[in-house]
Amino acid sequence: MVKKTKSPVTYAKIKGIVSYFTALIKDKKLGSNYPIYQQMDFFQHESSLSGDDGAAAVSFSNPIEELQSRVSAADFDYLKVIGTGSFGKVFLATHRENGRYYAVKVLQKHGILARKEERHVMCEHSVLLKTLNHPFLVKLHFSFQTKDRLYLVLDYACGGELFYHLHREWVFGEPRARFYAAEIASALGYLHSLNIVYRDLKPENVLLDSGGHVVLTDFGLCKEGVTGRGTIRTFCGTPEYLAPEVLQQRKYDRTVDWWGLGAVLHEMLYGLPPFYSTDRLEMLRNIISQPLELKPGVSSAARDLLKRLLNKDRAKRLGAKRDLTELQSHAFFSSIQWDELFAKKIPPPFVPSLSGPGDLTNIDPRFTELPVPQSLGVCEEYGATFPGFTYINDNILSLSAQTSGH
Ligand code: ADE
Repeated sequence: MVKKTKSPVTYAKIKGIVSYFTALIKDKKLGSNYPIYQQMDFFQHESSLSGDDGAAAVSFSNPIEELQSRVSAADFDYLKVIGTGSFGKVFLATHRENGRYYAVKVLQKHGILARKEERHVMCEHSVLLKTLNHPFLVKLHFSFQTKDRLYLVLDYACGGELFYHLHREWVFGEPRARFYAAEIASALGYLHSLNIVYRDLKPENVLLDSGGHVVLTDFGLCKEGVTGRGTIRTFCGTPEYLAPEVLQQRKYDRTVDWWGLGAVLHEMLYGLPPFYSTDRLEMLRNIISQPLELKPGVSSAARDLLKRLLNKDRAKRLGAKRDLTELQSHAFFSSIQWDELFAKKIPPPFVPSLSGPGDLTNIDPRFTELPVPQSLGVCEEYGATFPGFTYINDNILSLSAQTSGH
């Protein structure tokens, strides 16, 4: 038997890969006026925490080589709105040449700059670049910018938001909740292993793919460069799911994500987030100071897990010491084979009914009913206000093979 050895990624190899892309693109005369940079920062070492508040420096990647992109806003047909956020919308779009469906997140530059949120956007971008290969994290295919907008071209998770399904069914049974909680935990553990804290876990950010597997999206609030014992003190996010230390603007670390998982699991099992009150202020007070009350109706293993994840003391929270490993050995997850889960070999408890890859039946009509601006595919003059944003994934190879008939 021939034994294959894995050779390490070296700078020379990366340079070779970039030259290959350059040659490929030039050879195929794929001209547009937009410079595109092959992003290499995901091969670089994580930045360490800097400054007193522990905020991590977001890396604006160094362009190694300038490539001519053929991917631009005009290459897509924007069909429907499938999501909204503070800086823009997410659209279902098809690539005009290859006909594939994508979710295109379009962000308005002026909104980002006015609110001084460049760091969050570049952070989302930077995290997406680094997390290309986890089965439960959304994949970035391309990114580009026009004078006024930033575009992130992502996989379209056609199963819709977990939140959408949960709110239609009110609660999930334990096997279904366990499956989603395990896939989310696997993705969070992976991010933590890259020293990234997700920070904004809530049901809207958990999507389903066509097979019913979890796709975690929206990395706008991630923090990079948080090492095992590192802490951060900046705050953003939806209050309902935020850990008490974040609400109190105290230092926090990756254990905020285990609190977030506890909050999402609570909502899956009970139909409401923990510490719920119709009075928002009271709910925030409850999160900070009220003991967790768990009504009967769920198993003792589930309740024990919730108590441990929703521990107000982050040092005592499940996952504080050995991160994902601690969760994996909890009784609630005893039936989960984690390797099988990672390999997507555990059959999802719910498979979305779909007529095809562009199906919109699982997307909330409050999004799809919104109008699609005609100007989206218009390529205004290029403006690189966000240097290093433009990106092309290595699936350019398969795309060019398809479009050139190979
Ligand atoms: N909403 C936000 N991101 C999405 C995605 N990648 N697929 C489907 N809906 C989304």
